Amino acid sequence: METLHYDYLVLGSGIAGLTFALHAAKAGKVAVACKGALADTGTTHAQGGIAAVLSAIDSLELHVQDTLEAGAGLCNEEAVRFMVAKAPEAIQWLQQLGVCFDKADNGELALGLEGGHHEYRIAHVKDHTGLSIQQVLSKVALQEPSITILDYHMGLELLVEEERCHGMQLLDLKTKESKVILAGAVVLATGGSGQVYRHTTNPSLATGDGLAMAYRAGAKVKHMEFFQFHPTALYDPVSRETFLISEALRGAGAELVLPDGSRFMYQYHPLGSLAPRDVVSRAVYREMKLHNSPCLYLDARHFTKEYLQKLFPFIYAKCKSRGIHAERDLIPVVPAAHYQCGGIETDLHGETSLAGLYAIGEVACTGVHGANRLASNSLLEGLVFGKSAATYLVSKQPRQLRFRKYLLYPEAVGFSNELFTTAVESVKQQLQQVMWDYVGIVRTRQELMQAHRQIIKLTDELAIFTSLLNSQKTKEMQNLLTVADMIVKAAMIREKSIGGHFVEEEQEAYQV
Ligand code: SIN
Repeated sequence: METLHYDYLVLGSGIAGLTFALHAAKAGKVAVACKGALADTGTTHAQGGIAAVLSAIDSLELHVQDTLEAGAGLCNEEAVRFMVAKAPEAIQWLQQLGVCFDKADNGELALGLEGGHHEYRIAHVKDHTGLSIQQVLSKVALQEPSITILDYHMGLELLVEEERCHGMQLLDLKTKESKVILAGAVVLATGGSGQVYRHTTNPSLATGDGLAMAYRAGAKVKHMEFFQFHPTALYDPVSRETFLISEALRGAGAELVLPDGSRFMYQYHPLGSLAPRDVVSRAVYREMKLHNSPCLYLDARHFTKEYLQKLFPFIYAKCKSRGIHAERDLIPVVPAAHYQCGGIETDLHGETSLAGLYAIGEVACTGVHGANRLASNSLLEGLVFGKSAATYLVSKQPRQLRFRKYLLYPEAVGFSNELFTTAVESVKQQLQQVMWDYVGIVRTRQELMQAHRQIIKLTDELAIFTSLLNSQKTKEMQNLLTVADMIVKAAMIREKSIGGHFVEEEQEAYQV
């Protein structure tokens, strides 16, 4: 099996992975491996923006308090303060690299508002902030001689010996050959696992690979019961694709309304349509049930077509492609799985409980999100902790980075033939439906038990394909089942409803 050596191996090429790589490249050779093309990431799909204190009327303390409040008391306050303090310089770094955030007429950054924020602090590039950032980071990374991009490489397993992670076994998806990368530090930046649910704003690559791999290798995970559901994905009964209608549209003044056009969110929270996301999603879910309606609506009809096209070009165009003219029609919306608030437990430098293994961005659980992430803190997390992990590791060089030259590799076993693709796809669809029906916005204890049983059954079904575990689809399926199992078990253990974990028996938690 081909074996490569790098100082740092990063799996994932979104904002966290590339931020790490660009900072670490000053000190050593970095390999960035990613399952698709370099820009095939969750970051590319992020619309809203990045939260940071950037105006004189805002304060770091207010951003901290908004984050803690959204997190429903379960945030790690030290991590929140660390992230919030480093946010302004992180925005500056992106600007220096070439990201052109929207500006107001006076030349200052045009800051947006989103749910749970008590001040305007979202730096954005229209409604495609993530795409613009990804394009810049990808371009700079491709120009950096110390960074090697290994696109279309899927991580299979971490290589662990003597309780330390020394590298990773990967599958080259083009040649279908397995290879090994040994590194002084292995950094997981694989993003989320939204594909575990039937309806998700996450791209198809978001199958929790890094998380599952770390879990199998014995790293500690935390807060997996807190999967965040975004309240406003475009309702499209025909397509399986789920398109996000950014919270920034509500920040600009669009309101959630019932099928009869009336507002309802102030019954649930003083911030109305801009309440923290868990509150809004639950309210939408509840009102859909009460009105027996397959969706609710966003009312943006007080905006002109020109305004919408200028500030929200992607959203306007997507709606139009579905025959919805947002300046005169209500936009039908439904909640969808959006963000994994928990993940691999790390400290402020991304260090996990497994020596040699680091995790940054959505795959990690630093504690900044608690039970429910504050809007636009996710790109921020990737930026801040990507840099923090790199700075820490660079400071350890060369004293403490340990290289292993020889290691017992697992045998590469059978490769993908697509014979079983349909069967694996069927397991996936069943799992996604089970998770959506039983482990969604609102859960009951009984449903969690049912989900647990179904996951065991589906894991058994998948077991007949274990000789093909080096096929992308089968491995992804194994990872999704692992992640689903973690979510369900964590939800079963968590006794009280809090943040993104809401158990129906406890009715009073509907109201805040
Ligand atoms: C959005 O644009 O609504 C999503 C932003 C986020 O997830 O923070």
